[in-house]
Amino acid sequence: MQTLSVSLAERSYPIFIGESLLTNPECYQTYLKAKQVLIVSNTTIAPLYLAKVEQTLQSLGYKVACHILPDGEQFKDLQHVEGIFKTLLEQRFNRDCVLVALGGGVVGDMTGFAAACYQRGVAFLQIPTTLLSQVDSSVGGKTGVNHPLGKNMIGAFKQPTAVLADTSVLDTLNDREYAAGLAEVIKYGLIRDLPFLEWLEQNMAGLVARDKKLLAEAIARSCQNKADVVAADELEANDLRALLNLGHTFGHAIETAMGYGTWLHGEAVATGMLMAADLSWRLGWITQADVVRVKTILQAANLPVIPPTEMTSEQFLSLMAVDKKVLAGKLRLVLLRQLGQAVVSADFPLQTLEQTLIAGTELGQ
Ligand code: NAD
Ligand code: GLY
Repeated sequence: MQTLSVSLAERSYPIFIGESLLTNPECYQTYLKAKQVLIVSNTTIAPLYLAKVEQTLQSLGYKVACHILPDGEQFKDLQHVEGIFKTLLEQRFNRDCVLVALGGGVVGDMTGFAAACYQRGVAFLQIPTTLLSQVDSSVGGKTGVNHPLGKNMIGAFKQPTAVLADTSVLDTLNDREYAAGLAEVIKYGLIRDLPFLEWLEQNMAGLVARDKKLLAEAIARSCQNKADVVAADELEANDLRALLNLGHTFGHAIETAMGYGTWLHGEAVATGMLMAADLSWRLGWITQADVVRVKTILQAANLPVIPPTEMTSEQFLSLMAVDKKVLAGKLRLVLLRQLGQAVVSADFPLQTLEQTLIAGTELGQ
């Protein structure tokens, strides 16, 4: 087991990465201070892994209840968080309880948000079960739900007490979801870690084949990048943490336009990252060869690189205007100053952005 740390003074916490962590008492005992635990999972993950976590916690003396959500991004809304509150209240959960998120980013974001709100805030632990949630969403304390008018628009910052990234659970993840996780892995290389990007270029075939050693290294390097950024800018108060949103403004527009769950978050981010690279090239910041490099690694990871043909530039612009990086009504995007160095910028002509939005299959050409 590897242990990394997210350094946030009294809110610091460990990220455990390794095999068979779900049943490892070491990962729970110090981090579940209360005896009353609610495990939140979903209808896909619960039959696979809930019993293991539940039995481990019960054997350690915890009183465990469960709340099972329907599976899907389309259920990541206030109504389904309200269902978690109902279970907590019906079962008389006190302020000293702990919520355990057992699932991917959807379960993690919703459980964290419920923990941030229930009785004005209770503790929660993240057990991410997708590659995407192990390398990104479980770390850093962004929690929340979607609104019909915008992705992740309702939420709170709430750090977990620990993150258990059990790599064995990824064996049951399907190839499409696995690829979606690789998008966020590639993101770290593109925004701030050129040596990692080069390592990924050399090892993508092995990662796609799910080589365990390579996968553990990719997860650890991703989590280290995320932990460093979060430690430096926990609340996205300056533009450092915003860099983690490379491709997300384009991607969130795709997710919202196509209907939540149609394009996976990681797929939309992948195409969005190529769009951000294309715009960076049109602005003269990176070369055409750099855009080809971005496209090549995304394709090597089996990710989509063509925006939905049915989306117009007007639709993109309208949805992109509902973005948390918009300040004083001005759209700001994460772009690439060079490969391995992202910046947040509002400094682009609208016509140039429109060229990217209509480029379709011609991105980078
Ligand atoms: P997800 O939670 O929808 O999980 C993907 C699918 O895989 C689901 O059907 C799920 O039931 C299934 N699944 C999960 N673990 C499995 C396993 N081990 N075996 C078999 N099936 C499994 O999607 P995701 O990609 O994990 O997360 C996407 C969500 O995360 C989005 O809502 C996105 O907005 C959010 N997100 C949040 C942050 C953050 O910082 N909080 C960062 C990135 C993404
Ligand atoms: N996934 C973006 C962030 O955590 O800030």
